[in-house]
Amino acid sequence: MLILAPSLLAADFKCLEQQVKAVEEAGAGYLHLDVMDGAFVPSISFGMPVLKSLRECTGLVFDVHMMVEEPGRYVNDIRGCGADLICVHQEACVHLDRTVNQIREAGLKAAVALNPATPVSSLEYILPELDMVLIMSVNPGFGGQKFIPYALDKVRCLREMAEKKNPSLDIQVDGGVTAGNVGALIEAGANVFVAGSAVFKGDPAANVKEFLEVFGRYEARP
Ligand code: DX5
Ligand code: ZN
Repeated sequence: MLILAPSLLAADFKCLEQQVKAVEEAGAGYLHLDVMDGAFVPSISFGMPVLKSLRECTGLVFDVHMMVEEPGRYVNDIRGCGADLICVHQEACVHLDRTVNQIREAGLKAAVALNPATPVSSLEYILPELDMVLIMSVNPGFGGQKFIPYALDKVRCLREMAEKKNPSLDIQVDGGVTAGNVGALIEAGANVFVAGSAVFKGDPAANVKEFLEVFGRYEARP
């Protein structure tokens, strides 16, 4: 199943509730929430209070992308805000196996993100423990950056590895994803797509529908 995960980072913060409801009604599946600490990445975004308030106004799956050092420290707090899935960076966890287990023991879906330069092979042994892997197609920290083309090779390589080690693995791509390049990502083997600017710039509902039309074309293929 192909899922669109609009990234809140690109939304109009003056009217978050309205923006979130617009993408939910248009058919988005996840809400991608980028938590940044100013240490793992240069910028600071938003944290627990924002997640908690939004939880009251939407039924979307909360996909929390933790761009923070040692995110294991926050698993219980993030769960308390209504998260469904926590994604941590391989590069931010000294004891990645322990952090992944903390997320699973908290009853949440566990995902690991890889920065553009981090090889897919670094997840070889932990792959069976994961629900999703996030291939970053920009350097994390900011919205509106240009898609790094070699991310496509990483998606292909990961899908091949997952066929043996975890066939139901979700592969998410984040950074510079548009309705124009999402088809190539689907063909490479990804199935969950984060889009910030491509959803929230202009008319969010119309932009979501444009993505869903592309998904529909691929899903209708024999
Ligand atoms: C970047 C974030 C992304 C960002 C994507 O570090 O992880 O989720 O919001 O924004 P776009 O889709 O504009 O590249
Ligand atoms: Zn993200």
